[in-house]
Amino acid sequence: MAIILKSGPALPMREAGCESSCEWERRVEMKVALFGATGGTGQALLRIATTRGVAVRALVRPQSSLGPDQPPTVSSVVGSLASDEDVARTLYGCDAACIVFGPRPPYREIFCADATARIIVAMRAQGIPRLVCQTGAMVGSYRSNRTWALESSTRLHQRMRPDLARDRTQQEVAVVRSGFDWTLVKPPRLTNGARSFSVVAGPDVRVGLLSSVARQDLADVLLATLLGNRYSRTVAFVRQTRTRQPAPTMQRAPHRPLEGLPKLAEEGQALGMTDAAAP
Ligand SMILES: NC(=O)c1ccc[n+]([C@@H]2O[C@H](COP(=O)([O-])OP(=O)(O)OC[C@H]3O[C@@H](n4cnc5c(N)ncnc54)[C@H](OP(=O)(O)O)[C@@H]3O)[C@@H](O)[C@H]2O)c1
Repeated sequence: MAIILKSGPALPMREAGCESSCEWERRVEMKVALFGATGGTGQALLRIATTRGVAVRALVRPQSSLGPDQPPTVSSVVGSLASDEDVARTLYGCDAACIVFGPRPPYREIFCADATARIIVAMRAQGIPRLVCQTGAMVGSYRSNRTWALESSTRLHQRMRPDLARDRTQQEVAVVRSGFDWTLVKPPRLTNGARSFSVVAGPDVRVGLLSSVARQDLADVLLATLLGNRYSRTVAFVRQTRTRQPAPTMQRAPHRPLEGLPKLAEEGQALGMTDAAAP
């Protein structure tokens, strides 16, 4: 079942899966460790988290920057995803982690699976239970979530960039096998457009070659997912709907085995994944 997320300027309690104002207040007191905060999605998430008073600690590479005038709710660790110590310092005292990094053009750096495994190991050591990780609609085997055209394009992409495709699949395998309360967020093409307030997200959402989602809408989905424990232990494909939705409709995601998840486990074995990131 598709879940329609309509996000307005203020995130309603129920939208984040909170049943009472006490629970909501507790959740906005959460601290989130953000990996990839300097990218497009990361910056959108940082902005919306700041607006809603959620504290964020970001790991930032020395050559990169979060931008000027960050509020006191945002802190950073300057360091590298390849450093156990920098990753552990970023996670220290946080309640949840959110991964939104990915290779920049020309897409030669292969680092996502390795960095994600390092984050998982550090989360386990610190007892942090919640992990939300953004990959992409073209990652892994999810035939029923893709139109024929997108599936063909995905296969072509996987043939043309096998190292990149394998790295992202391994990243998803690491998240699924982490044993945490995890969510994989899988958007199609990202845009820097304005919020549409009209997005569908969920394990059954289908995406096509022309599907897209604005990073600002995606940031709303990511924050609601982090705060509300929505889509626990499942994937959430996300896309903008063509028309505005008539009214907010929020339902809990059905917890059922997904076509892609058993395949991910198989792919993990086929790819020779070690259990470094497993409990
Ligand atoms: N762009 C799309 O249309 C699209 C579609 C579907 C899914 N996605 C996925 O969605 C996620 C966010 O995409 P985006 O376009 O918003 O991100 P982006 O603007 O490309 O930002 C990428 C982020 O990853 C970090 N990064 C890149 N290479 C790195 C490395 N070698 N070591 C450490 N950090 C590194 C960047 O840090 P620096 O600032 O330090 O470089 C930045 O924070 C990615 O996983 C992406 O693959 C993107």
